[in-house]
Amino acid sequence: MRFRLPTRSLRWHFDHNDGRMMDKWMHYFDIYERHFEPYRGRKITILEIGVSHGGSLQMWRKYFGRRATIVGVDIEPRVLELAEPGIELHVGDQSDPQFLQRLADQYGTFDIIIDDGSHLPTHQIASITHLWPHLADGGVYLVEDLHTNYWGGYYESCRGNPASFISWLPDRIDDMHAFHSREPDFVINEWTITLGGVHAYDSIVVFDKTKRQPPVSRKSGRPAFEDIYGYEANELIDDDHRAQLQSLSSPMARLRRARREPRATIQRATGRLRR
Ligand SMILES: C[S@@+](CC[C@H](N)C(=O)[O-])C[C@H]1O[C@@H](n2cnc3c(N)ncnc32)[C@H](O)[C@@H]1O
Repeated sequence: MRFRLPTRSLRWHFDHNDGRMMDKWMHYFDIYERHFEPYRGRKITILEIGVSHGGSLQMWRKYFGRRATIVGVDIEPRVLELAEPGIELHVGDQSDPQFLQRLADQYGTFDIIIDDGSHLPTHQIASITHLWPHLADGGVYLVEDLHTNYWGGYYESCRGNPASFISWLPDRIDDMHAFHSREPDFVINEWTITLGGVHAYDSIVVFDKTKRQPPVSRKSGRPAFEDIYGYEANELIDDDHRAQLQSLSSPMARLRRARREPRATIQRATGRLRR
């Protein structure tokens, strides 16, 4: 049977949902689409922590397509009744490292992880800390309903509380920049070499996982001024940059470049060569 790529938007699936119930903040749909769209139609494994009535699991399956496996996790044992083709369920506590490890052992790596579970900051931190190594390279980890970090009370958390997920976040941004640090006690850790980006939205934070090398900065092109902010332009040009400029200004390089450009440019370049 031919596989047809899924085309409907998540919002469409939500608005036309006559399946199981789900509960979503309306501004989440744009965020999901922005980060999840590249995975549509692919053979991927998605983990969602927090199943409730199972509506979002069904929505992910329809959105990502029949090649996707959706794994739902909840502390409520009745969710096992919600299994169906492409949707697998497990009962456990998202703050229990042994339970999370059993999941990782069974599935290997996940391509997308969505934390919509207890919304307790301690649980959000425990889950991402344990599951991050089990997110595939190129994967996405999305934590939602982070407004609970501002509720206090049962959620053990409020603005400025060091135990909140929101307070845990800046340390990850520091980790991501450890390659650049000039402080000797600032070490490159697992986050530094795997965290490609952090995207913060109202109530959602998305983490991109990417294998990272120490970042490289280069210059190209010709200086516009002989000196600027206290440096001679020549001092700003290193050997690689100089070699690049020289290779670009050779007659053959000009011709090669011109061949990729409109006819008038080619005529100008070949005319110059003949002269
Ligand atoms: C907000 S609901 C999930 C909603 C669902 N994702 C949706 O969009 O319709 C949160 C779920 O997390 C589950 N939950 C609460 N504490 C949990 C924990 N410690 N570990 C795993 N799941 C938990 C609850 O039983 C509940 O079903």
